[in-house]
Amino acid sequence: MYSEKVMDHFSKPRNVGEIKDADAVGQVGNAKCGDIMKMYMKIENDIIVDVKFKTFGCGSAIATSSIATEMIKGKTIKEAFRLTNRAVADALDGLPPVKMHCSVLAEQAVKTAIYNYAQKNDLYFEELEGFDPDDLECHH
Ligand code: FES
Repeated sequence: MYSEKVMDHFSKPRNVGEIKDADAVGQVGNAKCGDIMKMYMKIENDIIVDVKFKTFGCGSAIATSSIATEMIKGKTIKEAFRLTNRAVADALDGLPPVKMHCSVLAEQAVKTAIYNYAQKNDLYFEELEGFDPDDLECHH
């Protein structure tokens, strides 16, 4: 049912933890299952130089947050903001359909952290248009 990559990232998640003096923090929750994901970033010159996460949730939520951190590390905040849950799931060689919503949590955690960073620093870029963490279906 689960790909090898999902099992690998679930059993050995990368970048677990928190960053004490993080420049960006984003927390999202899924109202249905109660799972919570929190993402921390260090950002220098718009580049994500470090990222860590804590996920209290299912195996797919852990695997998707783990691979999402690998995908955005070293990227600009704009590039990271474009990360889709579909890309995250593809990078894991797919997720069972009933688990796709877990990858949405990863996308939203990344976006919420960057959104908060942009707000704090008065930054604006096109990708932010229309994004509001309070509108997220799963946000709590
Ligand atoms: Fe809740 Fe996976 S079942 S995020």
